[in-house]
Amino acid sequence: MDYNLFLFILVVISSCCCVKCDNIINDFLSVPTTVKAQENNTVLLPCYLNTASNDGNFITAIRWYKDENLVVDSADEQLPLPEGHILWENGSLEIFRVTPNDTGIYICEIVRPEPWSPVRQRHAIEVLHPPSVEPFPPTGFLQVKLGEEVRMSCKGSGVPYPIITWYTKGEEIKLLNPRELLKFTASDRQMAGIYECRAANGVGEPASAQIELNIIYPPELMTSRSWIHTAPGHRVQLECKISADPQATVTWTKGDMPVPLDSRVLSLVDGDKYTLLIKNVQKSDFGIYTCKAINELGQGELQIQLSGVPNPGVFKKTDDKNINSKDSYTLIWEVDSYTPIIEYNLWFQPYKPKTGLSKPNWTKLTIPTEHSSGPVYSKSYTIKGLKEKTVYEALLVSRNRYGWSKPSPILRFATAGADLKEEMITPVQHHTEDNIIPLDLSSSSQNCKLGNVGFMVLVIVTMYYHFHC
Ligand SMILES: *[C@@H]1O[C@H](CO)[C@@H](O)[C@H](O)[C@H]1NC(C)=O
Ligand SMILES: *[C@@H]1O[C@H](CO)[C@@H](O)[C@H](O)[C@H]1NC(C)=O
Ligand SMILES: *[C@@H]1O[C@H](CO)[C@@H](O)[C@H](O)[C@H]1NC(C)=O
Ligand SMILES: *[C@@H]1O[C@H](CO)[C@@H](O)[C@H](O)[C@H]1NC(C)=O
Repeated sequence: MDYNLFLFILVVISSCCCVKCDNIINDFLSVPTTVKAQENNTVLLPCYLNTASNDGNFITAIRWYKDENLVVDSADEQLPLPEGHILWENGSLEIFRVTPNDTGIYICEIVRPEPWSPVRQRHAIEVLHPPSVEPFPPTGFLQVKLGEEVRMSCKGSGVPYPIITWYTKGEEIKLLNPRELLKFTASDRQMAGIYECRAANGVGEPASAQIELNIIYPPELMTSRSWIHTAPGHRVQLECKISADPQATVTWTKGDMPVPLDSRVLSLVDGDKYTLLIKNVQKSDFGIYTCKAINELGQGELQIQLSGVPNPGVFKKTDDKNINSKDSYTLIWEVDSYTPIIEYNLWFQPYKPKTGLSKPNWTKLTIPTEHSSGPVYSKSYTIKGLKEKTVYEALLVSRNRYGWSKPSPILRFATAGADLKEEMITPVQHHTEDNIIPLDLSSSSQNCKLGNVGFMVLVIVTMYYHFHC
């Protein structure tokens, strides 16, 4: 068929239609209405023509359509009137005792003899109905992997259509539209829990449904102590706290080998706490242990060192003006060790606020021990020949038969006349490269074994995520 001709016909037909449409609207006396009704009410839908355009008794039939289905036809004797429906002479449709099923679009059609075309008018009934909700997933249970997208929804019904509101952990979740769908990324395990949707439309009681969200994740490991001081004959516990969903399989290794378990070395589990218990420590037990956890989503591990060297020392507060003069300062410290301390190394230098340019200039003092018994060794020492009105910093390492301890936290102190500001007092941990200063000097000192001390952070938690999508 010729395309242009086709278009032409189309234009002609549609313009004819439009003319007719205009007529249709003018023909009606009744106006389109939307009736909001309570259940069991009686509803009257009008369908009156303008008497002028009706022009006598030209009407051949009156039809009513509900949601595009013919339900009433005055010309068709066979078509039974639905229960509770009455078609009045004047064209009105009356419905008694409406139910929610009566909600819909109603079209009244008046059929006239040729050449008049039928005319139509649109009405609607809304039978108010309390809300209800249907959750998705319908089981009310949803499981996702950590980091995945969560999609849950609540399909509401009721007349008028209800407004859906979401709650979790007692708080409303602010949502943009569409409100039926709740969508977010499960970036945090804390997002797991009960999600509730409530549907309200002002008719009757609001309805609600709950969806429980479960987030599965690869193992996460924690330990309270990643470095444990011990000595032969002692009893020691290596602890690894593991959370994982699904539950993880946990193994203990030392070096690359699984830790041999027997009546002396036991692996214990209490809830999420995994413990390696060594009842009677032997020197061969010293070393780095790895606690490794695996589940379907990944694995993680954490290292715990068992060592015989002393615990890092701790300086005690000595801000007593009587013992500290303008050129000397008395330091007091404590070191825990199950085996006797052989000697201390005390390092000190004038404190310079970090400018980044000044080179460290530590002075090392080797301090012998006195005869005292452990496990707590305390000692005091007076550094002499200090500059007056100067802030200094000091740190301590100590040695027993198993080697040198890790350095103590850095202590800052001032000789008489200098002001020790608050920010200088806070204990300095050995986190940054800057503080690993004694290592720089280890070569300049014959008996300094600081190089053997592990400054590295011993907890290395490696998480391997291998989501199988
Ligand atoms: C409507 O009528 C039925 C039957 O009498 C009754 O069971 C129902 O509760 C009524 N509904 C309302 C909303 O009044
Ligand atoms: C149409 O008929 C019904 C039933 O007799 C009546 O209630 C209604 O008022 C009538 N409407 C008009 C416009 O006459
Ligand atoms: C509503 O319609 C459905 C299906 O058409 C029917 O099963 C149900 O009984 C009806 N309910 C009422 C109150 O008429
Ligand atoms: C380092 O300290 C010593 C004394 O403790 C001093 O004689 C020397 O000049 C200092 N060196 C630098 C570069 O500050």
